[in-house]
Amino acid sequence: MIKKGESFYPSSEVKKRAWLKNRAIYKEAAANPQKMWNKLALELQWMKKWRKIYAGDPPHFSWFVGAKSNITQNCLDRHLKLQKNKVAMIWEPENVAEPKRIYTYYDLYREVCKFSRALKKLGVKKGDRVGIYLPMIPEVVISMLACARLGAVHSVVFSAFSSNALQVRLEDAQAKILITADGYYRRGKIIELKKGADEGLDNTAVKKVIVVKRANIEVPWQEGRDVWYQDIIKDEIDAIDPVPMDSEDPLFILYTSGSTGKPKGCVHVCGGYMVQAYATDKWIFDINDEDIFWSTADIGWVTGHTYSCYGPLLNGATFLIFEGLADWPNADRWAQVIDKYGVTTFYTAPTAIRMFMKNGTEILKPYRLDTLQVIASVGEPISEKAWLWYFNEIGKGKCPLLDTWWQTETGGIIVTSLAGMGPFKPAFTGLPFPGVRVKILDDEGKECKAGKEGNLVLLPPFIPGLLRGIYNNEKKYLETYWSAYKNKMYISGDLGYRDKNGLIRVVGRADDQIKVAGHRLTTGEMESALAKNLSIAECAIVGVADEIKGEVPVVFVVSKTDIPADQLKAEVVRIIREEIGPIATPKEVFIVKDLPKTRSGKIMRRLLRKALSREEMGDLSTLSNPESVQQIQETVQGPRQA
Ligand code: WTA
Repeated sequence: MIKKGESFYPSSEVKKRAWLKNRAIYKEAAANPQKMWNKLALELQWMKKWRKIYAGDPPHFSWFVGAKSNITQNCLDRHLKLQKNKVAMIWEPENVAEPKRIYTYYDLYREVCKFSRALKKLGVKKGDRVGIYLPMIPEVVISMLACARLGAVHSVVFSAFSSNALQVRLEDAQAKILITADGYYRRGKIIELKKGADEGLDNTAVKKVIVVKRANIEVPWQEGRDVWYQDIIKDEIDAIDPVPMDSEDPLFILYTSGSTGKPKGCVHVCGGYMVQAYATDKWIFDINDEDIFWSTADIGWVTGHTYSCYGPLLNGATFLIFEGLADWPNADRWAQVIDKYGVTTFYTAPTAIRMFMKNGTEILKPYRLDTLQVIASVGEPISEKAWLWYFNEIGKGKCPLLDTWWQTETGGIIVTSLAGMGPFKPAFTGLPFPGVRVKILDDEGKECKAGKEGNLVLLPPFIPGLLRGIYNNEKKYLETYWSAYKNKMYISGDLGYRDKNGLIRVVGRADDQIKVAGHRLTTGEMESALAKNLSIAECAIVGVADEIKGEVPVVFVVSKTDIPADQLKAEVVRIIREEIGPIATPKEVFIVKDLPKTRSGKIMRRLLRKALSREEMGDLSTLSNPESVQQIQETVQGPRQA
């Protein structure tokens, strides 16, 4: 057990199994990061070796220049010789009574090959974009790998996103195939996914829809366009050669929030992403042969891509994916899963930790949780209280707790303490991964002293897995990530500081993106959805603190018509749920006369947040309409007492 203010260092037992236990790695890697990545890359198989490790002229750069590989050869074929029958993936369904599914490396290899062949017959070839809109079932992993084997670029869309959100992403990626399912289970009910997927196909280039039978329900069907997954793989041969891919060929596009309405398609490439996913999974989580690795994030987010698919498979590890939720049918469901499979490495988000804390430790009493060796967190800042609870109650005071900071854009973990070394300091994330140059800068580009908050940036040679662009939007790529410091460094958009030992704590975003239960959402995308569908003059959405979810959206609307307030509020909620998804449901909707603006017309969302948290407003002299502020305070807080 540790208390507030203390740090934890790994025991000799933990160190014994660790890949890295000597701090010298940080110095060595800093002296020559390329050498370190070169060595790690050599642990994988390549069809052709690189001419150069890194070539860069930021904002454009490449890794493993001229090399050819296929990530699925390293995820699957490479393991067939020595561990053909080792378990690769365990699938636990939502329904406790339904049987689990287990895939050995050989099983997974054959399933992927069959589906690759079927995709090829449907015309999928290198470079084509394939949309994947699937729940957490084994076919989502098989689909990603089957695309990668052919060199097709997958773009997974979170299955709880609405059809509108799907449509925007498919249209932007110009996907020609969509892989979805008939339906899936959520809290015991069936979600009709195919029905939603059909609604998301308007204006897209999708010509074929492949439907996985999961819920065995009737679905709308378009002859000639729709095919059942189970039918097209049935008679396929279970082997196909992987297509050689250049290191800089795209592997996948994953959409994430932008500061404006439209989501950004982050492009990740074959060679660099592969090496980084492999190395970070191995060194950070200390993946060993006998481990059972479980990352609870949905595959629709980057954590799912890197640590519920590619990372563990590249390491020949056994990993688990789970269809259900933490608290259904009861709040002990995850503990049940940990004990059922003897999970050794558990990776989750602060929002889940807060939920468990609220439920109290009583519910965990029947569980041993004693197979756990490493526990980890991602997605939002973790408070000291939640950190200590997770460490003491789940990790039983003996497991290294890795807080990991990274982003969809970085493809893999950037800042964390390594399991075999520590230190694990409550509420601090740790040091940059060996060889990664992270700085915290003020707006002028000067490095911040310990304790002072600033912008988190990455310096050349960056990392092999950093995004290479925003799909079809070079301008946005440059503006978002590079222009602030003259194209010399990658700007993360996050704020953080270091303690006197250099450990980093990330405190939050420098822009208007919010994290709802760990899901990255853009208030801009929600605002555009409202503006498009409602007769309103203006709206602004901000995130406010929530005990469990971390942050939740609150909407401010200026109405154009005299539509009754209750009706307008209900419409706002309906539109956001329909256009984005239920995760974005606003906590509150306020109808106001005006929104505070600067003289140049920019809405001051900061003041809306202050009104919600009842903070002092400070100087309002730069506003064009300072009177709006009092009205907003009254709406939010009730009329002032005389
Ligand atoms: C936030 C998730 C504090 C941060 C892998 C980042 C964190 C955004 C942490 C990326 C952490 C992620 N501490 N904040 N350990 N990890 N964040 O793209 O604001 O879904 O920019 O990737 O989550 O979210 P994304």
